Amino acid sequence: MTPPRITIVEVGPRDGLQNERALVPTADKIELINRLSAAHLPVIEVSAFVSPRWVPQMADAADVFAGITRAPGIRYTALVPNLAGLDRAVAAGVTEIAVFAASTETFSRKNINQSIDESLATYAQVCGRAHAAGLRVRGYLSTAFGCPFEGAVAPGRVADVAARLADLGVFEVAISDTIGIAHPGQVPRVLEAVLTRVPVHQLALHFHDTRGTALANVLASLPYGIATFDASAGGLGGCPYAPGAAGNLATDDLIYMLDGLGLETGVSLAGVTDASTFIASKIDHRLPSRYAQAQEARRSLKSEV
Ligand code: HMG
Ligand code: MG
Repeated sequence: MTPPRITIVEVGPRDGLQNERALVPTADKIELINRLSAAHLPVIEVSAFVSPRWVPQMADAADVFAGITRAPGIRYTALVPNLAGLDRAVAAGVTEIAVFAASTETFSRKNINQSIDESLATYAQVCGRAHAAGLRVRGYLSTAFGCPFEGAVAPGRVADVAARLADLGVFEVAISDTIGIAHPGQVPRVLEAVLTRVPVHQLALHFHDTRGTALANVLASLPYGIATFDASAGGLGGCPYAPGAAGNLATDDLIYMLDGLGLETGVSLAGVTDASTFIASKIDHRLPSRYAQAQEARRSLKSEV
């Protein structure tokens, strides 16, 4: 049954910016996050405590956390790939982290230089220490709808790794379409397999919009009771280790659709537009959000009359 209220996890500052070739100044990242807070996003993924050699754009994670104004009631999270990352996150005062595994071996190797088994062993240690320190841990599961290196992925395999992640005690597994290949015919097949192993309240969906199907995929998953979706302001994004992956589902497009369906998010659409307009002025290309483009067209029409 479609849930009446949807939680949006804003991943733009991490998943969005990690794919920008030009380094975005720390001050601009902080300003983006403060504007996203002002838009009342309930969860904001701020950065990633990954190796700066692997993802230079995220090297300033601690400085970004130190610079943002943390609004009460908003959860500020970050990716953590290993114990070194956990130590950095704890030192930065982070109280919620996310580990990230994959459904396919080749992507796991390319993204974190570990097999799936090795990564889950690492995450068992990370979760053990994080939970003991009172942190909440989310788990991403990449390449759940297809892999840029291995192609199609069997839903049963996705369900297996999702269950192993859930067994680590993560509060939520974000089933992720890393390369934006999912479509509404496939989403039910994957969800039906995963739901046999992980309860619906522990599932989130993370769609990239490479092929323009992300909103349709959300619509296809609502009847299953999924109530948490990841998105990035303006549709910023991609993944540096997934060739061809485009931005995440745009937060503004998602809110526009959910508002139209009468589903509550508690997020200000105007606030998200403000944040995405700000970050668009700091990068060297247009953002893909259709809502943002429509707003821009309306603004230029008004300025001409
Ligand atoms: P490695 O090279 O195998 O690790 O990388 P290592 O232990 O040999 O360390 C290499 C160097 O990195 C060493 O430094 C370590 O100290 C350092 P050096 O001695 O060479 O100067 N190092 C670190 N520094 C800071 N923080 C750390 C850290 N760890 C090691 N945490 C590793 C393994 C996992 C570290 C690396 O592969 C990595 O950082 N990968 C992250 C890649 C990444 O961020 N990908 C994008 C995020 S995932 C994603 O976008 C998908 C998602 O959106 C869902 C979806 O759409 O599918 C979540
Ligand atoms: Mg992603």
